[in-house]
Amino acid sequence: MGDLKQALADALDGARQRSLGLLDPLSEEEQLAQHSPLMSPLVWDLAHVGHYEELWLLRAVARTQPIDPAHDDIYDAFKHVRKERAGLAILGAAEARSHIAMVRGRVLDVLDKVELDPAVPLLNDGFVYGMVAQHEHQHDETMLATLQLMASPYPHVAVPAPAGRPLPEVEVLIPGGPFVMGTDTEPFAYDNERPAHTVDVADFYIDTAPVTNGQYLAFVEAGGYDEPRLWSDAGWGHRLEADLEAPQFWSPQGGGSWSVKRYGQQIDLPLDEPVQHVCWYEADAYARFAGKRLPTEAEWEKAATGASAAANLGGRHFGPSGVGAYPDGASRYGAEHMLGDVWEWTSSDFTAYPGFTTFPYKEYSEVFYGSDYKVLRGGSWATSPLVARTTFRNWDYPIRRQIFAGFRCARDV
Ligand SMILES: [Fe+2]
Repeated sequence: MGDLKQALADALDGARQRSLGLLDPLSEEEQLAQHSPLMSPLVWDLAHVGHYEELWLLRAVARTQPIDPAHDDIYDAFKHVRKERAGLAILGAAEARSHIAMVRGRVLDVLDKVELDPAVPLLNDGFVYGMVAQHEHQHDETMLATLQLMASPYPHVAVPAPAGRPLPEVEVLIPGGPFVMGTDTEPFAYDNERPAHTVDVADFYIDTAPVTNGQYLAFVEAGGYDEPRLWSDAGWGHRLEADLEAPQFWSPQGGGSWSVKRYGQQIDLPLDEPVQHVCWYEADAYARFAGKRLPTEAEWEKAATGASAAANLGGRHFGPSGVGAYPDGASRYGAEHMLGDVWEWTSSDFTAYPGFTTFPYKEYSEVFYGSDYKVLRGGSWATSPLVARTTFRNWDYPIRRQIFAGFRCARDV
């Protein structure tokens, strides 16, 4: 096997070790259960990544026949919403493991023989293999969100995150002018990150780091959740309907102190960590409270130029690190934590870049374009380094809080 093929096989293996490692501490019952109407049973995610792998790395690459035609219904994310999936004839924990291992064995045989022909877009630079490995890591992050919603404690060992440090400045100035947004050169970039195109932005300030729990607590204590003028109309409507009073998983302990539930353990709210589990409406209201605004997606990407993956990624710490913990990952402009720790809500709707073409299927990006979704950037502590890059675009409904999402603010000069 050549170097590229070996790297692709290693990427697939790394994703698989991670998926199995996340589910191994759980009972069969916990893997089959519906822990939240927002999430799939964990074992559905596991078999779904195997089915996706069969679709792309066997059926698309090697023209094989379906292994089990029923899986094209059960494991198609568009055929059944998440809360229905526990009621389908899904594979059990042991069956799912042996099924995906069998698929993987065949995939490695195909990879050994296939010519990674640069003239075939799916195979150029091994794109389709990178797509499948990224897909599995994205589901691993989704599974971490499910595990956080589980009623019983999730058995895990969190490697301590590096300590934070005082930031040199609260915000950094990003000079206006054109920059290149998106990419034509990242081999595993998704269609929505393409093509690279020039965007002009005006001068702006952006926070050096994401808004911390301590900063967000000041908004809570100042009555931010009871002040309609800080919220958009839709945001205020949602705040009332969903009875939002603080970020998800926070609870008041009396005397002004708060705790947060993390994988079943109640811990003191870490004031210096980026706030997470806030929806877009909360982020938007906080920004108004701070006299600022959320950055646009273009502003975020420009501010992130040169940020490195010296960052809290990959899920080892089971939570964000203290602000200032990764000075080496800073962007060219001195913005820190652009990658890792928390996904960052931007003010932008999820739309196509000029010159966008669907590749390789419209259900990855195209069907989601429009004003229903807000863009998140930068990856979280649970995101794989294989997925985290400054051009990567994530999106979700503005009411969602179970994802590892926080934000930073910006302002005009
Ligand atoms: Fe998927």
